[in-house]
Amino acid sequence: MPTAGQLRTAALIYRSAFPSTNNSFCSNRLDRSSLLKSSARVSVIASKTLSTSSISSSSRLSGFHSSSIRDNVPNSRLSFSTSANTKMPVTTAVTKLLGIRVPIVQGGMQWVGVPSLAAAVSEAGGLGILTALTQPSPDALRTAIRETKKLTSKPFGVNITLLPSINPPDYEGYARAAVEEGVKIFETAGNNPGPLIKYFKNNGCVVIHKCTTIRHAKSAERLGVDCLSIDGFECAGHPGEDDIGGLVLLARAAKELKVPYIASGGIADSRGYVAALALGAAGVNMGTRFMCTVESPIHQNIKEKIVASTERDTVHIFRTLHNTARVYKNKVSMEVVAIEKRGNAKFEDVKDLVSGARGRLVYEKGDPDAGIWSAGITIGLINDIPTCEELLRRFETEAEEIVGGLNKIFTNGEKAKL
Ligand SMILES: Cc1cc2nc3c(=O)[nH]c(=O)nc-3n(C[C@H](O)[C@H](O)[C@H](O)COP(=O)(O)O)c2cc1C
Repeated sequence: MPTAGQLRTAALIYRSAFPSTNNSFCSNRLDRSSLLKSSARVSVIASKTLSTSSISSSSRLSGFHSSSIRDNVPNSRLSFSTSANTKMPVTTAVTKLLGIRVPIVQGGMQWVGVPSLAAAVSEAGGLGILTALTQPSPDALRTAIRETKKLTSKPFGVNITLLPSINPPDYEGYARAAVEEGVKIFETAGNNPGPLIKYFKNNGCVVIHKCTTIRHAKSAERLGVDCLSIDGFECAGHPGEDDIGGLVLLARAAKELKVPYIASGGIADSRGYVAALALGAAGVNMGTRFMCTVESPIHQNIKEKIVASTERDTVHIFRTLHNTARVYKNKVSMEVVAIEKRGNAKFEDVKDLVSGARGRLVYEKGDPDAGIWSAGITIGLINDIPTCEELLRRFETEAEEIVGGLNKIFTNGEKAKL
């Protein structure tokens, strides 16, 4: 049984203070034409690992990425196509299950998974997901679903995160609202998803359940989910308490799961995407990478902060409360860690620091030190702020190049020339 403190910490990180009115921080009330227009725009800012000149314009993006791959794959004799138009479609169990072109899912994100982002990901060929609890009520979720439908006619989903909470939100109400609005795909996460999964399955919906251990994945499989999202230790938000990285989790999933699974946590580029497919995943789920796109509703300062950060800039809080969360390393999260290190920390000791109201200010005002905000170690891989369309196109093109390069390392016994 979780303690009262654990219940409250979980609620704070993912739910905390519901917004009273509009839940977006920048204008996300785009109509379809402005969404499409924004897809043509690419905002690229200084890379932390590469010279600014190499990424100074969108037209050079694909060339830049191709050459960086070329320089790093084991076989230096590779020749790559750099045209974004030469993509070969990928077909996996997940593209078929969800009716999408690219097996890339945007995971539910509190305050971030709003109509503008979900629709942009779906329009780009992936699966966008609205985060139910970002909406202040089931009726507000209905409005958000209708808004998303105005922006895209492609499939999108709704995330419902089940939090251990003293005053639980109206999960049933959110679920009913989404089903009645015609949503057919759900991402569930958190504790005791059984009743929710049953409800969605009885209503003919597809359920992707996100979990951080193989034993939880197997129980969800027994509950009848269609797909699992296996969230490794690298992920933003709650990685669980077992600390198992994606490589091992996914290899075990390949051996032990019967339903298709997508790899989540630590994926932000095409190398990670291809590696996940090689590990038997039928696609990937990304959070942090989508936070840092043009259509993400968070303040531009925070997107730029992500670009400027490295993989060493996240930290785990709530370890001692057994409700670990990976968040951005800032003054507030370091203070929480310091309090935990002193020993016998109780939730009350950190309550004000981790308040949801402070966390929201980060995204609203663009002050990275205003409160606690979720981020994964993929921030070390994120060098730009593309549109979702640009991002997915890049994944498709580069994946083909990487696989082509890998094929060439099978040399049929060719001897090295000394
Ligand atoms: C800002 C942010 C908020 C998140 N909120 C939620 C949430 O409310 N529910 C949930 O199931 N997962 C949440 N996540 C986790 C993501 O859905 C996804 O599993 C995770 O980001 C994958 O790891 P990655 O960031 O390395 O891609 C959140 C992630 C981020 C970055």
